Amino acid sequence: MATQRTTTSGTETASGSGTAPGRPATPGTGAAPAPGTGRTSGTGRTSGTGTAPGTGTGTAPGIGTAPGTGTASGTTGPGAFPGGAELFRLDPAVAHLNHGSFGAVPLPVSRVREGLAAEADADPDAFFLSVPARLAEARRRIAARLGADPEGIALVSNATEAANLALDALGLGPVDEVLVTDHGYGTVTGAAARRARVTTVALDPDLPDEGAVAAAVLAAVTPRTKVALLDAVSSPTARVIAGPALIGALRERGVVTVVDGAHAPGMLAEPLAGEPDFWFGNLHKWAYAPAGCAVLAVAPHHRGRVPAPVPSWEDEHGFPRAVEYRATTDYTGLLAAPEGLDLLAALGAAKVRAHNAELAAYGAGLLAELPDLSPLPYDASLAMRSLRLRRGLARTHPEAAALREHIAARLGCRVLVWPWPTGGGIRVSAQIYNRPEEYGRLARGLRELLAEA
Ligand SMILES: Cc1ncc(COP(=O)(O)O)c(C=O)c1O
Repeated sequence: MATQRTTTSGTETASGSGTAPGRPATPGTGAAPAPGTGRTSGTGRTSGTGTAPGTGTGTAPGIGTAPGTGTASGTTGPGAFPGGAELFRLDPAVAHLNHGSFGAVPLPVSRVREGLAAEADADPDAFFLSVPARLAEARRRIAARLGADPEGIALVSNATEAANLALDALGLGPVDEVLVTDHGYGTVTGAAARRARVTTVALDPDLPDEGAVAAAVLAAVTPRTKVALLDAVSSPTARVIAGPALIGALRERGVVTVVDGAHAPGMLAEPLAGEPDFWFGNLHKWAYAPAGCAVLAVAPHHRGRVPAPVPSWEDEHGFPRAVEYRATTDYTGLLAAPEGLDLLAALGAAKVRAHNAELAAYGAGLLAELPDLSPLPYDASLAMRSLRLRRGLARTHPEAAALREHIAARLGCRVLVWPWPTGGGIRVSAQIYNRPEEYGRLARGLRELLAEA
C-alpha cells in the first residue's frame, strides 16, 4: 500500500503496508492528570556571547539558555549527584552517556528483583499463583507515581509492544490513515505501517520550538487522518512533539491520539499530560526499572478494545489484567518496577531531573564547540540533548552504527548516533551516575575522531 510522506514544503510517496481490518475508534478523553509541563525550549547555537548552561554562573536548568556559547569548556561543570554513581553497577571504564536508549538499573531495584527470583526458585507454585495479585499491586503503585488512573493502565514489556496493542485496539483498516513524524521510533512507526496507511510528517530538526513542531503536524492533518501517533520526546532529536497543546488540537479535529512516551516516565514531571487516547511509556529508561517494563495507559472508552496479547487464565478479567498476564514467564522485572519509581521519589524526582538537565546542557555545551557538531533546538528541562553532525556523516543506519561503535571502541564513550538522510547526529543523555569529565572526554576525543571521518 502506498503511504504518503508529507513534508513542510510538499509531499512524496513512500511504501508501507496495512492489513488489519476492524472498526474505527472515536477520539475522547482519558483519565490522565491535567496538562501543563512548565517546559521551555531553546534554540541551539549562538555565537560568542551568552551563558553556558550548567556552568555555575547562575543559569538554572529549564530556562532555555543556548549551549555552545564558548564558556562550557572553561568550567568544571555541575557537581556530582551525591551517591548517584554508587547506586549502579555500571562499568566505570566506560562513559555511559546513553541512558536514553536502555536505561540502567540501580542496585536497590536489582536486589528486589533478585529477591523475587530467589522466591520463585524456592517455591514456584506459591510464587506463580501469587503473580496476578502482585501485578495488580505493582500497577497500583506505578499508577500513583505516574499520576495515572490505576484502572486505566496495563503493565507491558516495552514501548514497542504497547504501540502494537494500542493500534490493535483501534481496529485500523487499510483505508485508515495514521499520522507519524520522521522523528518517530522505527519499531513504533513500523507497527502503524503494518496496519494502516501511514502519512509521515517531515519535521525539520531545526524547527525552533514546540509550537512550530505542533503547527507542522497540524498542517498535515486531513479529513482522512484517523490517528496521530506521536512522540512525547523524540528519540533521535530529543524534541518534545506531543505536548498537551498539540494533543488538545488533534482531539478538537477528531483525531485519535496515541502518544509514544517511551522517555516520559521519570524524565517528565507530568508524563501523561494532555490526556491522549492512548499513551505508553517505558519504565526501563528514566524510571529506573529493569528491562522489559512499560506502561500502556488507555482512555476509558477504549479500554474494552485492547486485546490480550496471548490467551490466558486471566482473560475473563479483561483490561488490564488480561493484557498483563502472559502465562508462565519471568514477572520479576515488572514486580520490581515500582521500586525504581520509589527510588526516584526518595532521591527527589525534581532534584534528579534538574541535575540531569543541567548536566545534559553542560555536555551539549562542550560538544557544541566542536566544528563538526551543531546543537539542535532543545527543551531545557530534558536529560537528553542532540547535535547535528557535519553534513554527509551518518546518513544511513549502518553508517550511524559504525560511527557509534567507533566512538565506543576508541573513546570508551557510549552515545546514540542517529541516522538522517542528509547527515545524522549524536544524542547525549545525563543521569545521576554521570560526571562532567565524561562529556569532556567525549568532546576531546570526538574533535579528533570527526576530523578524520
Ligand atoms: C521514542 C521511543 N519510542 C519507542 C522506543 C522503543 O522502546 P522499546 O525498545 O522499549 O520498545 C524507544 C527506544 O529507545 C524510543 O526512544
